[in-house]
Amino acid sequence: MCGIVGAFLATGPVTPVLLDGLRVLEYRGYDSAGLALADGTSQGVRVIKSEGRIANLDNRLAETPLDFDAEDLCAGIGHTRWATHGPPSDVNAHPHGGTGTRLALVHNGIIENYTELKAELQSAGVTFRSDTDSEVLAHLIERALEEAGDLVEAVRSILGRLEGYYALAVLDRHGGRNQLVCARSGPPLALCSTPGGTYLASDILALVAHSNRVVFLDDGDIGRLQANGFEIWDKDGRPAERLATTVEFNSAEAGLGHWPHFMLKEIFEQPDVLARTAFGRIAASGDDVDFEDERLGGDTLADVQRVQVIACGTALHAGQIAAYLIEGLAGIPTDVDFASEFRYRSPCLVPGTLALCISQSGETADTLAAARLAVKHGARLVSICNVDGSSQVRESEGVVLTHAGPEIGVASTKAFTAQLVSAVLLAVRLGRSRESLSREDAAEVLSELRILRSKMGSLLTKEYVEDIKHLARSHMEQTGFLFLGRGVNFPVALEGALKLKEISYMHAEGYAAGEMKHGPIALIDSGMSVFVINAAGPLAGKVRANMEQVQARGGRVVCVGSDPESLTATEEALAVPETLEWLSPILNTIPLQLFAYHVARLRGCDIDKPRNLAKSVTVE
Ligand code: M6R
Repeated sequence: MCGIVGAFLATGPVTPVLLDGLRVLEYRGYDSAGLALADGTSQGVRVIKSEGRIANLDNRLAETPLDFDAEDLCAGIGHTRWATHGPPSDVNAHPHGGTGTRLALVHNGIIENYTELKAELQSAGVTFRSDTDSEVLAHLIERALEEAGDLVEAVRSILGRLEGYYALAVLDRHGGRNQLVCARSGPPLALCSTPGGTYLASDILALVAHSNRVVFLDDGDIGRLQANGFEIWDKDGRPAERLATTVEFNSAEAGLGHWPHFMLKEIFEQPDVLARTAFGRIAASGDDVDFEDERLGGDTLADVQRVQVIACGTALHAGQIAAYLIEGLAGIPTDVDFASEFRYRSPCLVPGTLALCISQSGETADTLAAARLAVKHGARLVSICNVDGSSQVRESEGVVLTHAGPEIGVASTKAFTAQLVSAVLLAVRLGRSRESLSREDAAEVLSELRILRSKMGSLLTKEYVEDIKHLARSHMEQTGFLFLGRGVNFPVALEGALKLKEISYMHAEGYAAGEMKHGPIALIDSGMSVFVINAAGPLAGKVRANMEQVQARGGRVVCVGSDPESLTATEEALAVPETLEWLSPILNTIPLQLFAYHVARLRGCDIDKPRNLAKSVTVE
């Protein structure tokens, strides 16, 4: 949440570079956007910002003649905001300046003690223009800079006073000299350098247009950018070398291409994502999984007595499915918790606990905090994550990278199914390592996983999608939606409801099918659409009985799955190819993603940027 960019070029203009970066990062927050540019004429920093989308900033820039030579504009910073303190508005938009015009600052994070710091500054005569916590940083640095002269020293001198977390960048122009400095504690910040200039961003997506070799700042680091490179100092002020990470994707992959929305593009990428995530890890023998190259060899998975899964949102649903898989295939007791709850528990973790953290971004603040707590309580940390080099990956002892590629749509789709595929692989490996899973059973799961790619493809044909569009049209006026599932498909019901509510703003609830009779059944009438997810398998008869209870009370049932009897017992159905029960969530999810997408599209919602949301939740 909140996107930060910065650039120090050998020759200007920097404005289009910053705007391109902000456009890529807009999914991190779209309450306002702004730039600060080193102004060659006035010997200060010029700030141009606007509430709302980057398109508004474009308009403002068009109305604002930059009365200095654009070619001189070599250094600048930019920000796209997800509001935490103060409503979306022009004044609360970043960048924020101090009392004078020599510097401006952009910030992602939360300064928890900003009220005390603000009061102190106010009593020293400082007038604040915004309601944000971030403006405090600009004033503190401005005052420190008057004494220190050097921006790195000024930034360092105030960091110790801050409670909370931040990724920040400050641009200073004074005496004809530009200084661009960044710092991080918590939210991510990455840098790259090319012969044309040096760049910073809170997400590597904004850097791949310049270079695929990026360096992440560690917590506590401060960086200084110049046109010909950057320097980094650690939290103790010592010069630091940080290893560069090679980014696997290119900027074209992060683009929309011919698709109307990133979400649709990403839904359709899922068969290829499955292949990329799974196929190279299936051992040549076909009956085991090979994680040797991924910090998961050796003894990381040996002696696991218990698994504690931790995640948020869609990743949590993947984690709930992972728990069924790990218990079912590997026979290891597994608990699951919301990261936001786990992080404040006093967890009683038995020796041999493996903390399994699942995250698309690897930067979710709650998941990171929960992971650290689990490690503090003696757990070994393994992550399923989509972003190599992210904080989650760097802090984990073992990692299963999902090869979903950049996921831009705020509603997670391909990252979710990639997490499920990774969970299958991990469960098989755990089962084989302790021999609780036979070679034959492992081979059956893995060979079916290979076939799943074409089964996924059959859910993305023109005819199938047309059926879903038709269903969306006939349900878009319903008063509410219930999604019901059991066993390994219960979390699929939760995910179906989450997808629908986050992008279409329709009220939807996911429920365990067998639990419905204990309360939610009171909601059933013809205005309530009830999606029943029922895969052929041991629980199919039980789910069918739950479905009949809804039908008997006049509920409008849509069956999704492969159980033939359920499919013929309902007027509305989305048939899904049959597969092993363990793998059925991967298929059953796809029609639910498409249904949510088409309902949202019919309702005219902003699908890739749903209201109030941001892609990567780096604040608590
Ligand atoms: O990056 P993460 O996977 O850690 O993100 C977790 C959730 O914030 C995320 O899944 C969120 O629920 C999505 N909006 C779901 O579509």
